[in-house]
Amino acid sequence: MTIQSIGVLGAGQMGAGIAHVAAVAGLDVRVADADRARAQQGIDGIAKRLQRLVDKERMTPAARDGALARLVAVDGIADFKDCDFVVEAVSENEALKRSLFEQLDAACKPEAILATNTSSIPITRIAAVTRRPAQVIGMHFMNPVPVMKLIEVIRGIATSDETTAATVALAERLGKVTVTARDMPGFIINRVLMPMINEAVYALYEGIGTVEDIDTGMKLGTNQPMGPLTLADFIGLDTCLAIMNVLHTGMGDTKYRPCPLLQQYVDAGWLGRKSGRGFYTYGADGR
Ligand SMILES: NC(=O)c1ccc[n+]([C@@H]2O[C@H](COP(=O)([O-])OP(=O)(O)OC[C@H]3O[C@@H](n4cnc5c(N)ncnc54)[C@H](O)[C@@H]3O)[C@@H](O)[C@H]2O)c1
Repeated sequence: MTIQSIGVLGAGQMGAGIAHVAAVAGLDVRVADADRARAQQGIDGIAKRLQRLVDKERMTPAARDGALARLVAVDGIADFKDCDFVVEAVSENEALKRSLFEQLDAACKPEAILATNTSSIPITRIAAVTRRPAQVIGMHFMNPVPVMKLIEVIRGIATSDETTAATVALAERLGKVTVTARDMPGFIINRVLMPMINEAVYALYEGIGTVEDIDTGMKLGTNQPMGPLTLADFIGLDTCLAIMNVLHTGMGDTKYRPCPLLQQYVDAGWLGRKSGRGFYTYGADGR
């Protein structure tokens, strides 16, 4: 199947990034969120980021205009009816994703592929609410999407070879490299990454070190581009907590218990960079 038109559901940090790379790659992109205004907000953010690329002479004004012309904010899922491929990137909540996949299945044409950008929720369970489980797949982009090279492709138990091949081909068209993971809690990336972040929060909770000690120690001591608490703020503490809960319940092993301090920060609304406060505080420009 030729993929030319793509729907992106959820225009938060990931959805906007996915819409950005798809439009730059020449696809027609329809963006939906809880309402059209939020979808448009996502597109406005993309316009600003594309302008920054033009200012730095890393993109031509014509390429920016072409990408922006391919991005359309729509009212909701019903407007995805002609899309060849849909990527869902709403909040990391299984009940929400399952309910939206039921609606996507009803609205989209029968041959369309439905992908989820979930960080950890089983693809098989999301696929099971649709009448097309062979055409449901995990397409896990990394944050920030325009910068990060990897897409983790996750096959649910019923995902077909054709769906996998089409998804890998699309990822390559977006300029990305793929790895394929089995549908197990956290897949590959978050099975390894999230326990490390959670352990860093425990180190803070137990007073082993300050935020700065933990981040500088891990950054310089293990040669990572940023410390785990900086990374947690960047990902979103609500997303980190949701992934730890999936690992904890999915594996049934107490070693994946989310740190109580992580839970408390989320309860306080300290979600990291996107809310202005997490382990660090941020200005309006996100710095
Ligand atoms: N943040 C990361 O680093 C990262 C990395 C990879 C994957 N993910 C995954 O991507 C997904 C989105 O994460 P994010 O960081 O962009 O979150 P976010 O909070 O920035 O964005 C979520 C978006 O979903 C929208 N939304 C909520 N309910 C909706 C509904 N009923 N209909 C339509 N839109 C709705 C919200 O309005 C918001 O714009 C999650 O599944 C997350 O696990 C996140």
